This record gives sequence, C-alpha cells and structure tokens, in this order.
Amino acid sequence: MGQYTASQRKNVRILLVGDAGVGKTSLILSLVSEEYPEEVPPRAEEITIPANVTPEQVPTNIVDFSSVEQSDDALAVEINKAHVVCIVYAVDDDDSLDRITTHWLPLVRATCNTNNTSNNTSGDSELSRKPIVLVGNKIDLIEYSTIDSVLAIMEDYPEIESCVECSAKTLHNISEMFYYAQKAVLHPTSPLYIMEDQDLTPACKKSLVRIFKICDIDSDNLLNDYELNLFQRRCFNTPLQPQILDEVKSVIQKNVPDGIYNDAVTLKGFLFLHCLFIQRGRNETTWAVLRRFGYNDQLEMCQEYLRPPLKIPPGSSTELSHRGQQFLIAVFERYDRDGDGALCPEEHKMLFSTCPAAPWSYSTDIRKSCPTNEAGWVTLHGWLCRWTLMTLVDVVKTLEYLAYLGFNVHENDSQLVAIHVTRERRIDLAKRQSSRSVYKCHVIGPKGSGKTGLCRGFLIEDMSKLLGKEFKTNVVHCINSVQVYGQEKHLILRDIDVRHALDPLQPQEVNCDVACLVYDASNPRSFEYIARIYIKYYAESKIPVMIVGTKCDLDERRQDYLMQPNEFCEKYKLLPPHLFSLKSNKKELYTKLATMAAFPRFQAAWILFYKHRLVQLWESAYLRQFGLMTEDPKVWIKAGLGVAAATVLGFIVLKAISGTHLR
Ligand code: GTP
Ligand code: MG
Repeated sequence: MGQYTASQRKNVRILLVGDAGVGKTSLILSLVSEEYPEEVPPRAEEITIPANVTPEQVPTNIVDFSSVEQSDDALAVEINKAHVVCIVYAVDDDDSLDRITTHWLPLVRATCNTNNTSNNTSGDSELSRKPIVLVGNKIDLIEYSTIDSVLAIMEDYPEIESCVECSAKTLHNISEMFYYAQKAVLHPTSPLYIMEDQDLTPACKKSLVRIFKICDIDSDNLLNDYELNLFQRRCFNTPLQPQILDEVKSVIQKNVPDGIYNDAVTLKGFLFLHCLFIQRGRNETTWAVLRRFGYNDQLEMCQEYLRPPLKIPPGSSTELSHRGQQFLIAVFERYDRDGDGALCPEEHKMLFSTCPAAPWSYSTDIRKSCPTNEAGWVTLHGWLCRWTLMTLVDVVKTLEYLAYLGFNVHENDSQLVAIHVTRERRIDLAKRQSSRSVYKCHVIGPKGSGKTGLCRGFLIEDMSKLLGKEFKTNVVHCINSVQVYGQEKHLILRDIDVRHALDPLQPQEVNCDVACLVYDASNPRSFEYIARIYIKYYAESKIPVMIVGTKCDLDERRQDYLMQPNEFCEKYKLLPPHLFSLKSNKKELYTKLATMAAFPRFQAAWILFYKHRLVQLWESAYLRQFGLMTEDPKVWIKAGLGVAAATVLGFIVLKAISGTHLR
C-alpha cells in the first residue's frame, strides 16, 4: 500500500531566489556543512540530498540563483524547472522585503504563466501555480519579527505555502526551512484549502465525503470507534490509541457541536477534523488519507489505482475471484437497508454514491439483464450475475468500480485479487474440459424468431409470462447461472441484433463459447437464414453450435430450404434441433448450452447429457406404464442408470464409426 500513501513525485527541486546579499548562498552552504561559512561564492553548486536523509524520503535538489552569474533567461528556465521557489529576504533589510511583492512574486507568476499551456495538465491555474515559501534570513541581527508584514502578503498570494524566519549564521530554522519547502511540493495546501475562506476546497470536500462513506461500514452516516479504528489502521498502519480517540472527539465537539452524535463522528465532524489538520500545518495527514483512497496531487483518482495493469493472455477470460465475490456480497448487504435480499432503485443509487455514476442503468440494464425478485428489484444473485457479466466483457470497468467502492482500502490489497484470469482456452481444449465458470453464448436468428424471448426467459421463473410480449428496451446481454454436472456455471446470452438478412456478422459477433442459432419453427421462411449463417461462419470453426426451433407450441411448418432442420443437423453433425417454447416453460435449453460451452470439442459429453435426459424420460414413462414408479427409488435409479449407460455407449460407438461425431 505504501506506493499510494506518498506523493507521486520522484524528486523535489527547490530554487532559492531573492535580492543580492540576502544570504541565499549562505543558507545552502550552512545546511550542507552545518556551520556558517564566512566566505561564500556568488552561487552555490547545485546539490542533491539523497532520499534517505530527507524526512519525506524523496531525493531533493537545491538550486541557488545569482544575478551576477545568471541572466534573466537562465532564471526563467530555473523557475520553470523548480517544484518550489523559496523567496529569500533579509529581515534587517526592508527593501528586500518590499521586493517580494514588487518584483519576485509577480516574476514567478508571470514566468510560470507563459509556460502554463504546456505544463499545466489540470487546466486550473490556481492548482498549478508554483508553490512559494517566504524565507526571512538573518534573524540573528534583529530583536523583533517581520512575520506580520509577511502574513499580509500571504493573504494576497494563495501560492505562498508557508513562511519561516531563520539564520544562516546561527543555523536557526535552517533544516526547517528546507523541510517546509519540501512539504510545499509533496503535501501542498492549495489543492486542499482556501485561505480566504478558511475552508476546504470543493474538490477536497468531495473526496473526503467519498472517503467518509466508504469508511462508514454500517452506512449510518456516522463513524463509530470501530470504523475510525479501521480507517486509522488502513491509512496509517497503526491503531488509534483510545485516549487519542477521545481527545479527537472532544476537540470536534468543542468546535462543531454537531460534529459528534451518539459518541460517533458525523460527516461535518470529519470534515472539520481535516480542516484543523491543515490549519495546524499537518497537511501530510490529510494527504496520506487522500492518497490511500487513490487520489493524486490534483485530487483526481489516479490511473494506476483505478486501472492497475492486468495481463490477460489471448484465449483466457476474466472472472470474479472468491475475494471479489465476498466483497461484492458485503457491499450488497450493507446497502440492502431493509434487508429484503434485493436492492430497490434508491438503495442501488446509494450504493454507487462513492462512484462518479453507476456503471449501468438500473431500469434499462441491470433489472432487464439479470434475475430479479417479484417486484423487479435486483436480488443478490442478480447483483453477482451483473458483476460477473461486466468482469467478462469489460474487466477494466470492474477494476475501476471496485476501486471506487473502496475494495483496496477494505481489503488492504489491490483490486487485482478480486479477479481470476482463467487458463488459456487451448489448454481447456487439449484437456477437453474447461476450468472456467462463465461462458458466452451468442443467440443469432432472423428478425422475429424469438431471440429476445429466449434470452429473457433465462431470467424468470415462468417464461410463459413473456408470451406475446413486445420487448421495447434493447438489452444486449442476459445472464444467469445453471448447474452443469453439479457445478454452478454462469451463462451469458448475447442477443445479436440483426439489421438486415444480408448484413455480414462481425468477428466479435461470431466469436463465443457456444452459438445458439434460432429459427421460428412456425414460419417456413425462417430456417434458411441460420442455415446460411452456419455455413458461412460456423461450419469451419471450433465453436459448438446448437440449432433451436422456437415457438414449438404452434404448428410446426416445413421449412422452405433445400434441407429440413433435422436433415441439416445430421449433415453437419450437429445435435438435432432443440425445440423450444416459452409456453411450455422448459429450461433444459440453457443447461444444454452451458454444457456445450463447458466441454468444448467434446460432443460426446453433450450427447451424454442429452441422451441421459431422453433415457430418463423414456425410463420414467416406461416404468410408470408398468406401475413400477412406486418401487424403492434407489432401485429405480440404479436400473435407470444401467440402461442409460448402455444406450449412451452404443450411441457413441455407432457415431464414431459412422463418421466422427467428435470434432
Ligand atoms: P547574491 O549571491 O549576491 O545574490 O547574495 P546571496 O543571497 O547569495 O547572499 P550571500 O550568501 O552571499 O550573503 C551575503 C552576506 O550576508 C554575506 O556577507 C553573508 O555572510 C551574510 N549573511 C548571510 N546569512 C546571514 C545570516 O544569517 N546572518 C548574518 N548576520 N549574516 C548573514
Ligand atoms: Mg549568492
């Protein structure tokens, strides 16, 4: 986690400017040699302080300026190269103090502005102004302080991060001065705090509100001791001492009475606490929190935090790991306020309030593409289905949203552990069994053949409810799970929308784990379309194909094509057409499709499945006829299995001889 708690800066470059004779060179040499040099050259050589001797562990370059040795152009170059500029004046020299506002501050601003177009990535000139530290040197020479005049300047120039009085001669505040300069770069105030308003910036507030919500595990809008402790451990790797916790709470209580409620910290209290840190010069605390939650120096979420690189070899796919699922279940349960096992639209909206927007629409996406409860609300099962779908088709978005939802903080790990990259498909093919648990099935067929009904039927208990329904919203994917030989597998049905009969299919429309080619059995002009699709795209491919005749509750019509569907299937060594009807509400089709996808190039397994079903059906009819169903069920199963095995074996041998059904 360390990589996210520090600023992304690789080094800090500090430039000292100021009138001649104020002591710039002396300050640098005093810092380096820890003693006051009586004789100094006009300009000190650039020095580099190694990371391990700086308090922030960042290598630091210190650069001197001398008007004798350097031109204005050279100064401009140095100002632009610097991350922070220390403007030095001599406390005993009022002219050098006046020159801060009449010369140095405007010069630094103007120099940076001319270069802003190329350097400024945030587009916000306030944020990108070069931080400044005002340094009053030679404090050993006077008995008073110049701080009042300096504070007045600070108010007018928000880019001034801090000011310090010091002496190169007595070494007073020398290391502090360089520390403040470093801090101005690594933990700048201006992105967090508006001096004039004495308040947090809108961007800082927004980030802290999100952080508050993520830490508020029980979603009661309060951070209790347990949540504060967890927060502290996640951000700083140490628990919070009980008496410090009490002190913090009493400080909040004293300053903002509604900052504490029921002995827990409210959002208002949490924001106040950060305001206080900054006002007391402890920006690094707030920055550490922000960085831990993924923010960069511009208070945007960093790319590496949202989208850590994930290697997916060709032929592998992406699924949710156990930890990913556990996290998503916990998030679901947190926001299922009424505990009814489903997310209503309001709960769904609240859940994604830590994200820029929900990753999908509630009304036209998740509730149409996943299983829901009676009221049409997303169940836990549907919720996991939707994430499974996104993880397969757009894993980068899954990574992003896990980060937005606080995975990295709660799990104290990168969200990459929420993803399982499956082994390559060629290994699956070689082993004739897939280790994956999510498969994609493309449903292809002519207009009006019942593709959408077939896809949506997968999501609901009673498919007959869909009879005669017009589907207005165009949902691309439907996902649910089925059992394949006792294992739960997710099957994604993609409704391939065909605009015109002759439109070619795109490769991404063809490629899938199993293709479901649909024709309307009650329409004689329906089969030809998928016959052509099969010959053109699938006959030569390794993708398993299932031919499905829909609306089989209506009169089956002879197809106007050179072959009837069953002849076609026989010719191309496909399973016989599966007859499907919403009316009959039979769901074997989905299990069949998942089985074909799970056992690629192993048609025997599908046939086994298929024949086994047939044998069972036949068997039960046969036994019923002879009144044998009332017998001890164990005996019946054994007998049934014996018959099934013999039949299947015979079938495979037969097919293997007659022309390799096994591809
Ligand atoms: P230029 O290089 O000409 O721009 O000047 P500079 O800002 O580098 O000043 P420099 O370090 O050369 O110091 C100028 C004079 O001030 C020297 O005589 C130093 O000895 C003296 N001086 C620097 N710092 C201090 C200090 O903290 N106290 C006192 N009393 N004298 C100082
Ligand atoms: Mg000098």
